Amino acid sequence: MDDILEVRELTRRFHGLIAVDRVSFRLARGEILGLIGPNGAGKTTLVSMINGTLKPSAGDIVFEGRSVRALPAYRRAYLGIGRTFQIMKPFPGLSVLDNVAVGALFGGGERNLERAHAQARESLEFVGMGSRISHHADELGGPDRKRLELAKALAMKPRLLLLDEAMAGLNSVEIEELIDVIRQLRSQGISILVIEHVMKAIRSLCDRLLVLHHGEKIAEGATEEVLRDPRVVEAYLGRERR
Ligand SMILES: Nc1ncnc2c1ncn2[C@@H]1O[C@H](COP(=O)(O)OP(=O)(O)OP(=O)(O)O)[C@@H](O)[C@H]1O
Ligand SMILES: [Mg+2]
Repeated sequence: MDDILEVRELTRRFHGLIAVDRVSFRLARGEILGLIGPNGAGKTTLVSMINGTLKPSAGDIVFEGRSVRALPAYRRAYLGIGRTFQIMKPFPGLSVLDNVAVGALFGGGERNLERAHAQARESLEFVGMGSRISHHADELGGPDRKRLELAKALAMKPRLLLLDEAMAGLNSVEIEELIDVIRQLRSQGISILVIEHVMKAIRSLCDRLLVLHHGEKIAEGATEEVLRDPRVVEAYLGRERR
């Protein structure tokens, strides 16, 4: 199988705590893989090691056949790994358009400001924010901040997109819209790793799931099969139902 990403025995310790414990998995080209698990399971930490915002304590990340472990985040972005952040950090003083243009300049490899703006406009239209390009980022409400975050990642022209709770705080109409946007991204050939708690989104988007619990991989496989796994129900779903 043609894998875009291979994660090998990835581990991250924070002092005494093992946030991610020897996690290995592969992501096939064109696949949507869901990363689920209870709060504090290590999902964001794992994604941060893949995109390079956090250094692994051990293990390796192979993107398109080469190890990227030693590369800084901006180099990985340039190679094609894009991500959104659970805790959004827009540049408040900048317009929506400029916020996204920074993404194009930082990770998209674009040097020309005019072309970066054109790329930003395209990404913003794609996520349904074409009418808000001149707003200031700090004027935006929660859902638009989520869209801005996604547009920023898309402006980097990723081939692998890491989404960290892109649906959190969205209403059901907004969730449907975002599910549709993510499907379109996949049909454009982008491979996607999605951290998500919204069950409807997980079920309708993910080909496979990987489940973390206390930093360890406790299940991996076809979505419905994993959601029926008693260990997963106990660790994650059972908790939601209580
Ligand atoms: N910078 C840090 N310093 C110390 N501990 C950290 C740091 N970042 C994360 N942790 C700890 O590592 C563990 C995993 O955190 P992480 O944010 O990866 O979980 P998560 O699965 O993304 O949770 P959530 O669903 O709440 O977003 C938690 O116990 C967390 O407190
Ligand atoms: Mg998280």
